[in-house]
Amino acid sequence: MTVHVHAVQDYAALARSSLEPAVWEYLADGDNEDNVSALRACRLVPRPLRDMRGGNTRLTLFRQTLAHPVLLAPIAYQRLFHPDGEIASALAASAQGAPFLISSLASQPLEAIAGAANSEGAQGAWFQLYWQGERQRTLRLLKRAMRSGCSAVVFTVDAPVKIARFQLPKEVFAVNLENVEGQDEKDARPAGAGTVFNGWMAQAPTWDDLAWLRQQTPLPLLLKGLLHPDDADSAIAAGCDAIVVSNHGGRVLQGTPPSLHALQAIAKRVGGRIPVLLDSGVRTGRDVFVALAHGASAVLLGRPYVWGLAANGAMGVAHVIRLLRDELEMTMALTGCKHLKDIGLHCTSAIG
Ligand code: FNR
Repeated sequence: MTVHVHAVQDYAALARSSLEPAVWEYLADGDNEDNVSALRACRLVPRPLRDMRGGNTRLTLFRQTLAHPVLLAPIAYQRLFHPDGEIASALAASAQGAPFLISSLASQPLEAIAGAANSEGAQGAWFQLYWQGERQRTLRLLKRAMRSGCSAVVFTVDAPVKIARFQLPKEVFAVNLENVEGQDEKDARPAGAGTVFNGWMAQAPTWDDLAWLRQQTPLPLLLKGLLHPDDADSAIAAGCDAIVVSNHGGRVLQGTPPSLHALQAIAKRVGGRIPVLLDSGVRTGRDVFVALAHGASAVLLGRPYVWGLAANGAMGVAHVIRLLRDELEMTMALTGCKHLKDIGLHCTSAIG
């Protein structure tokens, strides 16, 4: 069968046909439509006749020079989607100059994934940290990530409680955790009123734990999963180096604002003090442009690269990133933006 892939979305159909229905459901799960449509609804204004020679998509984040502003979001248990798992995604990310965020719930050893992510000589491996119930266990995991060559830490705080509807196969699990009971995607315990506040939430991190965590690593520390400007202020006060505005792809709390809308309020409050990144709903290079126009420095891409992974392993992931890069460049060319710093709200029809 010949399949023509012209856009990232084409990989969704390919992934769907190559995955077990339950695995596809697990990947697709979530209330993500509003994220996608908020990005798509933004109108961009063409600016023809500008000289675009010498344009590029480069940026600097935490003293790392990146070829473009698309990073791969942490996604748990990637051996569910392809036997080569996280290592395939990390290799593709490295080949395409995209930092790869290794999930705490990765299904392969983090040293091997970090090695693949760093294989093009860049510091391409970042570590996504989930709180491990208490400080010392969290610290052991963090130190392991630091030893393995991860160059930034992304602390995800928006999923302290989550009911999983999916039963992992025996051979796929969070191999890097001491306690293999994951905190996010895997936990299949039933909801019970009494267990939430004194059970799960007693194991969840607090702002005090974040202040403690800040002291434990000299690496850039990003806080992932904020939607409220007051929390952005608290993150800055705690010494975080960046914020990832995200609603976890709509997978945790139902009915949150689209991440693009939250980004506007947070970017305004942060006012350039630290970089603000966005995820949830990015599907095209045009979406990347829209996020940047609203104040993001870069975006994290989630499900779309997993579609590529499921359809065609590392090649699929690399192609997905390439498609987004090309679409971003095209959008910049059509809107007269030679560099990322030229992208702003003035490119949208909101301001005219
Ligand atoms: C996730 N996400 C996630 N986030 C995180 O911090 N740690 C994790 O282990 C996971 N695992 C995970 C598994 C799956 C199957 C999905 C779909 C998502 C959330 C992820 O990092 C990101 O926030 C969203 O996927 C972004 O939305 P899009 O790009 O998928 O729309």
